[in-house]
Formats: sequence, C-alpha cells, structure tokens
Amino acid sequence: MTVVVGLIGAGIMGADHANTLASSVARVRIRAIADADLARAESVAQATGADVATVNPMAIIDDPAIHAILIASPDHTHRDLTLACVAARKPVLCEKPLAPTARECLDVVSAEVGLGRRLVQVGYMRRFDPAYVEVKKKLASGELGSPTMFHCVHRNLSAPPWFDSKMSITNSAVHEIDVSRWLLEEELAAVQVFRPATSNNDAAIGPVFLVFETSSNHIVTVENNNNGGYGYDVRGELVCEKGTISLRSPINSEFNFNLVQGTIYPGDWRQRFATAYRQQLQDWIRSIETGAYAGASAWDGYAASAVAEAALESLSRGRSTKITLEARPSLYT
Ligand SMILES: NC(=O)c1ccc[n+]([C@@H]2O[C@H](COP(=O)([O-])OP(=O)(O)OC[C@H]3O[C@@H](n4cnc5c(N)ncnc54)[C@H](O)[C@@H]3O)[C@@H](O)[C@H]2O)c1
Repeated sequence: MTVVVGLIGAGIMGADHANTLASSVARVRIRAIADADLARAESVAQATGADVATVNPMAIIDDPAIHAILIASPDHTHRDLTLACVAARKPVLCEKPLAPTARECLDVVSAEVGLGRRLVQVGYMRRFDPAYVEVKKKLASGELGSPTMFHCVHRNLSAPPWFDSKMSITNSAVHEIDVSRWLLEEELAAVQVFRPATSNNDAAIGPVFLVFETSSNHIVTVENNNNGGYGYDVRGELVCEKGTISLRSPINSEFNFNLVQGTIYPGDWRQRFATAYRQQLQDWIRSIETGAYAGASAWDGYAASAVAEAALESLSRGRSTKITLEARPSLYT
C-alpha cells in the first residue's frame, strides 16, 4: 500500500517534513500541498513531486484521493484543521502544540472520543530521537535505580519574528513537558516559573526557568531560552538513585585551530532532530497501515498544553501552581 498524504503549511517545518517524506520514508506519496502563500506551496510541490498546490487546506482534507494529512501551519490553526481531519475520518499528524490552549485541545479529544477512534498524532518527535529513546531504555533497565530529577536545557539561536513571550512556554518548553511525561511515565503535578532579569528586558524574549514537581515528587527543571545567541542546543540529564544518564547531540566532527578545540552547533532543530523527524514520519505511515498507535496522542497534546497553561499562570502570579488535568477518557488508556 502507498499512503497518499496532503500537507498543510509549507514553511520551515512543513518543507522539511515534505522533503523527508519524499526522500527517506517508504510507502508514501505526497499528492498535495496547501499554504496561505501559494508560491511556497508551489515551490514545495515542485521539489517533492506533489501534483497539487493550493491555498485552500479544505481542498486537501476533502480530496478523496488523499488518505492522511500532515499539518505544519501555525499553532493557532491546529485545532480547526485537526477537527476537520477527524470529521473527514482521516489520520492526521499535527505539529506541536496540538493547540495553544488546553480548551482547544480538549475539543479535539472530544471529537475523537465522539468518533470512538484515535486518528490524531501530535508531532512531539523527541519520543523518536535515539538519545531520548536510549535514556528511556536505560531507565527501564533498572540499573540506575529510581529517577529523582530530570534537568533539561533548550536554547535556540534566536526567536523568529512571530514569536511572543508566552510561546517560549506554549510552543517551545512544551517539548520538554511532553518528553518528561513520556520518559518518567507520570504526570507533572505542580509548576513554578522564574524569569531571570536581562539587561534588555523590553527588547527580546528572555529565558524562563521552570521547576516541576511530578505526581510522585520527582523534580523536572527546564531552562528555556529562545534567544540563546550561539546555536541550537538541547541538553538533558536524568539523575537516578545510582547514577545519571545524559543526552548526547550528534556531532560529526571536532576542529582544532588557533589554540581552540571546538564543535559546530546547528542553527536550528532540523539537523539536531533529523533522525527523530524521519522516524516519527515512518512510524506514522506504519500506524496508518497497521492501525497501531504511534507517538503522542491527542490526549498527550492536551496534557502538554494544560501543563503549559499552568506554567503561564505561575509566571503571571509569581508562585507555584498546581496542575490539574481532566479525567483521561478510556480511548487513551
Ligand atoms: N516539532 C518541532 O520540532 C517543530 C519545529 C518547528 C516548528 N514546529 C511547528 O510547526 C508549525 C509551523 O512552524 P514553522 O516554523 O514551519 O512556521 P513557518 O512560519 O515557517 O511556516 C508556517 C507556514 O504556514 C502557512 N500558513 C499560515 N496559515 C495557514 C493556513 N491557515 N493554512 C495553510 N497554511 C498556512 C504560512 O504561509 C507558512 O508558510 C508550528 O506549529 C510550529 O510549532 C515544530
């Protein structure tokens, strides 16, 4: 079987997904690309051999020749487009976050529960990254004992122009929120967020530091800095009772020059997480073929956005905030 896919959103992430699907994923064909900017849709269609380029996402969702939809348009479009895919009974891989607010995510959860079937996967691709997978395996082996703390660092070179300060939590730190829930297999129960002073307080989005307590009193810390200034840098160290395990970023070379030894940082996430994006897409295609679920569900998407919302509340109130999730429907157990 060849799974025929339509892509909505052909910007940085959409173009990257389209290239990966066309070049490195088996048993898939891209038929159509929709983007609000027709020239972008046409350019990605040409590069990936897609037949159709359009500005109308509904033309793709309603196309009977298309089996599944990949959404990589901006966050605020995710809820409505995902709901349209569920209404059309088409599997959908929606980029993270599932929606910027917990309420919108619950609308998607309700639609799936109403249908009685899971069609939505959320693009929390770190679950497919070899480094995170290895940390999870090591934890599961029991050799290191029980986990106590998970320290995360997430730094970007610079935030894009459309980024606002809330998005450092709702769009960026949601990666660490999701991967912590997945790794530790427990919920985040309370959060306190700190914003360190910076010399140009009004000029740019500064760093945030989030401290979570999990439901069994483990600690997760996240330093999120969208204007880190030097490169894309994601780190993590899981501290267990008998040892620790750290993520390693793929590094292909090391230079020695002028009394300096060094390595090169990628400019953004595409290089660091290339394997994770590819594996996520391949598993999504396999899940469409087999009906077995893969990756983060709509419920996981809701949980990440609900935790992010509690973090925003903590930031605005300047105190620790309890995180309360709705009851999990049996569709997601
Ligand atoms: N998983 C990850 O690591 C990761 C990394 C980057 C971005 N993302 C997510 O991917 C999504 C896109 O981010 P990006 O960096 O590619 O942004 P981008 O601005 O580069 O691309 C967004 C594209 O969507 C188009 N668009 C806007 N509204 C549309 C609509 N209603 N219908 C169709 N197209 C529309 C824009 O014209 C643009 O081409 C975001 O939700 C972001 O959070 C995920």
